[in-house]
Amino acid sequence: MTDFKQLRKEIIEKTIQYHEARFALNEFIPGKSRVNYAGRVFDEKELCNAVEASLDFWLTEGRYSEEFSDKIADFLDVEHVLLTNSGSSANLLAFSALTSEKLGDKALKPDDEVISVAAGFPATVTPIIQYGLIPVFVDVDIPTYNIDIEKMKAAITPKTKCIFLAHTLGNPFDLDAVMALANEHDLWVIEDNCDAFGSEYRGKKTGSIAHLSTISFYPAHHITTGEGGAICTNDPQLALLVRAFRDWGRDCYCAGGENNTCGKRFSQSFGCLPFGFDHKYVYSEIGYNLKMTDIQAAIGVAQIDKLPHFCDKRRGNFKEWMRIFNKYSEYFILPKATENSDPSWFAFIVTLKEETPFTRDELTGFLNNKLIETRNLFAGNMTKQPGFINRNWNIAGKLENTDYIMNNTFFLGTYPGLTEEMLKYAEEVLEEFVINYL
Ligand SMILES: Cc1ncc(COP(=O)(O)O)c(C=O)c1O
Repeated sequence: MTDFKQLRKEIIEKTIQYHEARFALNEFIPGKSRVNYAGRVFDEKELCNAVEASLDFWLTEGRYSEEFSDKIADFLDVEHVLLTNSGSSANLLAFSALTSEKLGDKALKPDDEVISVAAGFPATVTPIIQYGLIPVFVDVDIPTYNIDIEKMKAAITPKTKCIFLAHTLGNPFDLDAVMALANEHDLWVIEDNCDAFGSEYRGKKTGSIAHLSTISFYPAHHITTGEGGAICTNDPQLALLVRAFRDWGRDCYCAGGENNTCGKRFSQSFGCLPFGFDHKYVYSEIGYNLKMTDIQAAIGVAQIDKLPHFCDKRRGNFKEWMRIFNKYSEYFILPKATENSDPSWFAFIVTLKEETPFTRDELTGFLNNKLIETRNLFAGNMTKQPGFINRNWNIAGKLENTDYIMNNTFFLGTYPGLTEEMLKYAEEVLEEFVINYL
């Protein structure tokens, strides 16, 4: 019989050769090659792990999922990490957990209000609407692009029960102020950390401070598993609830392939079920199945080892964009890190000043024609999006900055795949635009 271990070794050796042949670095040709805003950055280790997991053929959560979630927990310094199939699912699950009746008076209920912002990505807001609660949109500050704390204070009513905010493009929101307000009013806080994996606030990692936090592993983010996400918490009850919602709503928390870890599988009472009904088939929540596969987790295991280096590169690229844009500071409002924070920037965000003689779209059109990719700040003003217009939300005061951002703001990439040559090319293109225009 063929020795499968020998075959496996040969497959991995071939995978390393394949990586070298298929993904060897391409030469950058200015004006011909793209300067993307984001992308996968990987080497042979990700490919080998994906192949190893495929050869294991365990498929569902297994050894790589355990290793990946442990590594995330170590990196963030949190107790519980639950893997899921996307950042949007992570947001949905974090929010779902807070609707559980097991939380008693603290459970979120339809018509409760949740503070958020309209200048962001929809996945931070959609769970609020999906569960019948009311998002209350507060304006953001420019140039941190995070919630305006004074306006947020004014937006709190007796119906406010939760604050759900993203660290915009990696820049932490003012966690001191938000957590203080949450303590004062007994509110839940969810950190959408999808764009900020590796950012720090007062020396602690974002995603380790609020009651729950989420991560996305979509390729544009700090590390990737293709699709993928995670929910993090230090609260054991919330961790159990997230797991229940993630895994069909079931009450049992045994991992795949495990049985009776609580020792009480057939000796408990639940709902109106007969005594001793199999705990593995007891459903205490109205749940989903949003789990990650072990092949995704295997890629994550290789990616997370690179995360500290990726964060350094993001910070370095941000500094370089700052140098480039500073030359034209009469036209641009440049981004600013929130006080007491050290962002692992998702992007370099720029807003055109009111008196600037060219428009955002003229500039981004020029950059994109020269193959330098830009993006607007996601949904712009979410309340103006077709899917949101007729929904039940409130605006606290006015969204003046949000509207200004919708019309005048864009971002460029800071991802680790950007090279010095690319940034130099972008610097020349920006200069060409400004000279030609004026
Ligand atoms: C702030 C924020 N939250 C959530 C998500 C959703 O993540 P995913 O694409 O993994 O569903 C994104 C997506 O980019 C995001 O930017």
